[in-house]
Amino acid sequence: MTEQPCILIAGAAGQVGVELQRSFAGFGKIVAVDLETVDLANADQTRALVRRVQPNVILNAAAYTAVDRAESQRDLAMAINATAPRILAEEALRLDALLVHYSTDYVFNGEKQQPWVETDEPGPLNVYGESKLAGEQAIQQVGGRFLIFRTSWVYGPHGNNFLLTMLRLARERDRLSIVDDQFGSPTTSIELARATRAVTEGVLGGQFGTPQEWSGLYHMTCADSTTWFGFAKAIFAGAEERLKLKPPELTPQATKDYPTPAKRPRNSVLSNRKLLDRFGVRLAGWRAALDDVLQVLSAQVLSSGGTK
Ligand SMILES: NC(=O)c1ccc[n+]([C@@H]2O[C@H](COP(=O)([O-])OP(=O)(O)OC[C@H]3O[C@@H](n4cnc5c(N)ncnc54)[C@H](OP(=O)(O)O)[C@@H]3O)[C@@H](O)[C@H]2O)c1
Repeated sequence: MTEQPCILIAGAAGQVGVELQRSFAGFGKIVAVDLETVDLANADQTRALVRRVQPNVILNAAAYTAVDRAESQRDLAMAINATAPRILAEEALRLDALLVHYSTDYVFNGEKQQPWVETDEPGPLNVYGESKLAGEQAIQQVGGRFLIFRTSWVYGPHGNNFLLTMLRLARERDRLSIVDDQFGSPTTSIELARATRAVTEGVLGGQFGTPQEWSGLYHMTCADSTTWFGFAKAIFAGAEERLKLKPPELTPQATKDYPTPAKRPRNSVLSNRKLLDRFGVRLAGWRAALDDVLQVLSAQVLSSGGTK
């Protein structure tokens, strides 16, 4: 491989895509693309993109992530989350490039009482989960050099996410009801990008042996777990301190009282054991990672010279 690897980042404007651009800065030549440049729902465009760029590494952070809307847009969700990853894997194989792809805790049905491990049987409850599972399976069928990172409850300083929704709602309302019977691990885009770089760098540097030894599927989330209610409580405690935001009154709510088009798993906590054992990489605990994001937001408020 060349000294300076060429890194193609798809989904560059998304939560994870933006952080990947930051964390891979200086690692190689970055070609960042988003929907405005290439529509991954279009197989020909996807193939042509890779053939034109000839990357050594493809970081695929693009996805159809609208979980509820996917229930009525199955074909589009499948095209972006299942067909596009297959094409990226085929093209990566042709170039002997590394494909890094993200998947989701929503491939599981949520019924297990313990954290899910990579060998547990998936059983998605919604179309988004089905489409992401199909993407994982497509990449595994194609083979080659690939890393699939299943993550969960992703949020960060920008984009559409639970944290930013909570902060907006707190400015509009005095009281909020939040679901308290779904368990998961809130994971920041910052931690995901940092861990992705650490693993990618190690793999390309030959630190982890041959592709046969490291290619595969890994869970990658911040450590420890909570419910959406617990996450919201921590957000408002942190936001009161860091952003001087008046916390709303929070009421725990049952999933059955908050109907959504897509069903969600009750327990989607993932075990990160395999990631740690194979690569020695561990993400921060979700509370520390949340504080990092609140610090970023606080710095943004200060630099814009106002209060948010
Ligand atoms: N968000 C979560 O809670 C969560 C949880 C588990 C796993 N994940 C996985 O983590 C990865 C990153 O997610 P994220 O939270 O960063 O998602 P995100 O913020 O929604 O970003 C996804 C990006 O993909 C782009 N995209 C969508 N359709 C496209 C298309 N047809 N062609 C090209 N680009 C397209 C989007 O562009 P537009 O914005 O212009 O549509 C967006 O920039 C995904 O694989 C996701 O499935 C996310």
